[in-house]
Amino acid sequence: MRNVVSCALLAGLLAQSAQARFEWNGWKASNDSGYFEPNSTGFKLQNGFERVFIQPYGEHGIRVRASIMRDPTGSEPSVFLDPPLEGPGGNAGLSFDTLVPFRGNSSLRNGNILASISNGVLSFYRISTSSNGSERLDFLTGEYTDTKTLTARFYRQDFRANSFAAEYSFSSEPDEMFFGAGQQACCKDNTVNKKGQVVDLLNFNSQVTLPIYMSSKGYLQFFNMPSQGRIEFTPYRTRYFTDQATVVDYYITTAEPGDYDALQKQYTAVTGRQPMPPDFILGYQQSKLRYWNETQVLDVAQRFHDEQVNVSLIVVGAQFLRVEVPRRLASDSPSICKSRQTDDFRVHLLHRSFDPAFFPDPKGMAEKVKALTGAEMMVSLWPSVEDLSVNYIEMQKRGLLATTRDGTGISDSFAGVYTRLIDSTNPEARQFLCEIFELRAPGWGSLGEPFVNNGQDMINSLPYARTFSQYFLGTQEGSGKMYPWLHQQAIDEGFSNLTDYTLTSSPSTFASRQCRFMSLTRSTFLGGQRFCSYLWSGDTSSRFDVLLQQVTAGVSAGASGISSWTLDIGGFSGLNITTDFGRELFVKWLSMGVFLPYMRVHGDRDCNIPPNTVPPIGNNCPNEPWSYGEDNFEIIKQYIALRYSLVPYVKRLFQMLQESGKTIVRALYYDFSSDETVINGTARNDPTIVHQYMFGPRLLVSPNGVQGATSKTVYLPQLTDEMLRQNFTWTHWWSSKSFGSGGQTINISAPLNQIPVFYLGSKEDILTGNI
Ligand SMILES: *[C@@H]1O[C@H](CO)[C@@H](O)[C@H](O)[C@H]1NC(C)=O
Ligand SMILES: *[C@@H]1O[C@H](CO)[C@@H](O)[C@H](O)[C@H]1NC(C)=O
Ligand SMILES: *[C@@H]1O[C@H](CO)[C@@H](O)[C@H](O)[C@H]1NC(C)=O
Ligand SMILES: *[C@@H]1O[C@H](CO)[C@@H](O)[C@H](O)[C@H]1NC(C)=O
Ligand SMILES: *[C@@H]1O[C@H](CO)[C@@H](O)[C@H](O)[C@H]1NC(C)=O
Ligand SMILES: *[C@@H]1O[C@H](CO)[C@@H](O)[C@H](O)[C@H]1NC(C)=O
Ligand SMILES: *[C@@H]1O[C@H](CO)[C@@H](O)[C@H](O)[C@H]1NC(C)=O
Ligand SMILES: *[C@@H]1O[C@H](CO)[C@@H](O)[C@H](O)[C@H]1NC(C)=O
Ligand SMILES: *[C@@H]1O[C@H](CO)[C@@H](O)[C@H](O)[C@H]1NC(C)=O
Ligand SMILES: *[C@@H]1O[C@H](CO)[C@@H](O)[C@H](O)[C@H]1NC(C)=O
Ligand SMILES: *[C@@H]1O[C@H](CO)[C@@H](O)[C@H](O)[C@H]1NC(C)=O
Repeated sequence: MRNVVSCALLAGLLAQSAQARFEWNGWKASNDSGYFEPNSTGFKLQNGFERVFIQPYGEHGIRVRASIMRDPTGSEPSVFLDPPLEGPGGNAGLSFDTLVPFRGNSSLRNGNILASISNGVLSFYRISTSSNGSERLDFLTGEYTDTKTLTARFYRQDFRANSFAAEYSFSSEPDEMFFGAGQQACCKDNTVNKKGQVVDLLNFNSQVTLPIYMSSKGYLQFFNMPSQGRIEFTPYRTRYFTDQATVVDYYITTAEPGDYDALQKQYTAVTGRQPMPPDFILGYQQSKLRYWNETQVLDVAQRFHDEQVNVSLIVVGAQFLRVEVPRRLASDSPSICKSRQTDDFRVHLLHRSFDPAFFPDPKGMAEKVKALTGAEMMVSLWPSVEDLSVNYIEMQKRGLLATTRDGTGISDSFAGVYTRLIDSTNPEARQFLCEIFELRAPGWGSLGEPFVNNGQDMINSLPYARTFSQYFLGTQEGSGKMYPWLHQQAIDEGFSNLTDYTLTSSPSTFASRQCRFMSLTRSTFLGGQRFCSYLWSGDTSSRFDVLLQQVTAGVSAGASGISSWTLDIGGFSGLNITTDFGRELFVKWLSMGVFLPYMRVHGDRDCNIPPNTVPPIGNNCPNEPWSYGEDNFEIIKQYIALRYSLVPYVKRLFQMLQESGKTIVRALYYDFSSDETVINGTARNDPTIVHQYMFGPRLLVSPNGVQGATSKTVYLPQLTDEMLRQNFTWTHWWSSKSFGSGGQTINISAPLNQIPVFYLGSKEDILTGNI
C-alpha cells in the first residue's frame, strides 16, 4: 500500500488506487494564457538529518534536491539553465515558502503537475482539464514505499567524506514503458523500451548512458547528477543509484501520455536547445582511419572533384596528430588566448599535432580541398596529453591534467605511450585548450571519456580497469559524467571567442544561435544538446546486426534529448572492402545514413594492402564512394545525391529541434502511440518495430539489415486522426505506390539501391522542407 496525498479532497479517492482517474475541482489560478502558475516558490521538507527542497521549475516541472546534514549549496555542478527558457523558476537560490515538518503533508502545483507530500513521502500527479473545465488527477510516480522495503530515499555515507551514495526508488507499473537512458551502442542491447533493463551510468566507447527517461504514462524524469551509478527499471519500482553525491537533484515534468514532443520541449527548456548546425555539415561527410598524408587527402579531393560527387566535410582522423609542432600558428589570430599566453606557450599544441613530415601545410591543404570540392575540413584530436609531449610538463606544473587517486595520473595508453587527460573540468585547462582553435578548422573531434581507449585486446579482455580519475571538479565517481560536457563547452567557448558565434551561456540567444563550427564528440551528458556539437555512436563493428542495433541506440539518444547524432557508416572495424559481404554491408549502411541527422562515412577498413607497421597505426585501405566496386559506386552516388536533395528537409528538422526540442530520429512510439501494434511491439522490443524509425515527421525508414536480402517486411503504422485529416497516406519513396493509411505489414522489394522508405504527405513538400 503506497502512501497517498493527504489533501482531504484527494485522499479517499487516491487510496482506492494510485492509478484511478477522477474528477477533481482543485484551486484554479491560471494566468492569462491559461497556465496555472506555481502556487508556491518551494517547499523545504526537514526530515531529521535530511533536507528535501521541492520547487517549481520550467513548464509543468518540479525540481527536487535532497541532501543530508546540511542544505544543498546551489552551486553544485548542474546542467540546468537558470532561469529556464520557458516557464517559471530559477531556483539555484533554493528559495521556499513552506517548511514541511517531519512526516508532514503539503502540495504544490506548477502548470499541470502537482507535487504532493504525504507523511513525508513525495508523489507526482498530472492534472488534465477537460472542455467543461473539470480537472482530473492522474498519478505519475512517486517515492516507492511499502512495508518492509528499503526506504525510498536511502543514503550511505562514507566515514571519510561529506559525500554519500544514495538509492532513490520511484513507483512504476509493470506495463509502463521507459524510453531514453542515453546511448547504448553495443552490442546485444536492442532495447527501446528500457523496462526490465539495468543501465550502468558509466561512460566508455559507444556507451553514453544518461540518467533520463520518458515514461509511457506521460512524464519525463532526469537526474541532474554527473555521478556514476545505475538505473534499474524493475516491475514495480525504478531505482536510481548514485555512487557519490553531496546532493540528489532530480527533475520531473509531465504531458499527456504519448505527447513525447511536449516532454522534449519542456526538458530542453530547462537544459538547453540545439543551435543550428552550419550548412556544410548537413551534406556528405567523408572520413576514414586514417588519411595518411597531404598527398592522399588532395588525391581524394581531386577524385571527388573529377567524379562530380558532392562532399561537404573531410575528416582527417585521429592519428595523424603525432608529434609536436614547431611554431607556425598564425600570428593574427584574434583569440583572447593569445593575449593571455606568451608566444612561447602558443607554439606547443597538445600531445598530437600535425606532423610536418606528413602534413607540411595544413592551412594550404584545407584551402586546396575547399577549392576542389567546396568541402570543409575537420581535425580530430584526443583530449589527452602523452608523457613525451612538450606540453606535458607545462600542463602538469599548472595542474591542468586530470590525475588519479593513486597518484600516477595515468589514465590511458596509446601506441606504447602513457597518456593523461586534459582536465576540462578546470576553467584554466579549458583556456589552455583554445590554443588549438587557432588552427581554425571548423570541425573538431574529441572522445571525452576517461576510460581506457588503447584498443589492446589483451587489456580489453581483462576485468574492467578502474582508473580512479580525479578532476578539478571532483572524482570520477562523483562528477565524471560531466567531463565530456565540459570538454564540449571548452570547444564551444574557444570557438566562440574566435568567431561571431554567440556564447551558449546566454539563454536569450538560444533561439537564434547559428553554429559556425561543429565538434564531433564520442560522449556527452544531459543538456549536451546546447553545444555546437554532434555525438557519434563510437567504434562499432561492421556487422549487419550492429547496423540494426544502431537504430535502437539512435532513437534512445534522441529520446534523451540528443538529436545531434550520427554513426560510422559501415561500422568502425572489420569491414573488408574487397569482399561481397563488406561491400553489401557498406551500401546498406550508407543508405540508412542518408536518413540520419548527419551522413558520415568513417571506419578503419581492411583490404589486400598490408597495414602500417609503424605508428601512427591504422590500415591503409580506402573508404571512399568509389572503393566498393563499380556497380556500387553508381548506387552510392545516387544515395549521396539523394542526401543533397534532402538537405532542405534536414534543415527544417534542425530548425524544429532548435525551436522546440523536437526529436529528429524518432522511435515509432513518438508519432504512433495510438497504434496498438506499435505499442505492443515497442513494449517487447520486437525487431520489426524497434528497428524502424521516423526521420522527422514525414519519413519512415526501415533499414535492410539482412545479408543477401532484397526484400523486407515492413510495418506501416496506422495513421493518426490528425494525419488522416491532412489526407496523408503512406507512399513508397521509390515506386510512389500508395499504401493507404497503414496499420498493415507489407513485403516490399528492397534492392541495394532502394532502402525501404515511405513518406507522408507530398514528396515535393519534403524536398523543399515545407513541413
Ligand atoms: C497549490 O495548489 C494545489 C492544487 O490546487 C493545492 O492542493 C495546494 O494546497 C496548493 N498549495 C499551496 C501552497 O497553496
Ligand atoms: C503564464 O505563465 C507561463 C508559465 O510561467 C508563462 O510562460 C506565460 O508567459 C504566462 N502568460 C502570461 C500571459 O503571463
Ligand atoms: C499528515 O496527514 C496524515 C493523514 O493523512 C496525518 O496522520 C499526519 O499526522 C499528517 N502529518 C502532519 C505533520 O500533520
Ligand atoms: C466534464 O467532462 C468529463 C469528461 O470530459 C465528464 O466525465 C464530467 O462528468 C463532466 N463534469 C461535469 C461537471 O459536467
Ligand atoms: C602518402 O601516403 C601514401 C599512402 O600511404 C603513400 O603511397 C605516398 O607515398 C605518401 N606520399 C608522400 C609524399 O609521403
Ligand atoms: C572566451 O572568452 C570569455 C570572455 O571573453 C572568457 O571568459 C573565456 O574564458 C574564454 N574561453 C576560452 C575557452 O578561451
Ligand atoms: C580482405 O579480403 C581479401 C579477399 O577475400 C583477402 O585476400 C584479404 O586478406 C582480406 N584482408 C583482410 C585484412 O582481412
Ligand atoms: C551537389 O550539391 C549542390 C548543392 O550544394 C546541389 O545543387 C547539386 O544538385 C548536388 N549535386 C548532386 C549530383 O547531388
Ligand atoms: C496488444 O497487447 C494487448 C495486451 O497484451 C492485447 O490485448 C492486444 O490484442 C494487442 N494488440 C495488438 C494489435 O497486437
Ligand atoms: C517478399 O516477397 C518475395 C516475393 O514473393 C519473397 O521472395 C520474399 O521472401 C518475401 N520477403 C519477405 C521478407 O517475406
Ligand atoms: C483532404 O481531402 C478532402 C477531399 O478531397 C478535401 O476536401 C480536404 O480539403 C483535404 N484536406 C487537406 C488538409 O488537404
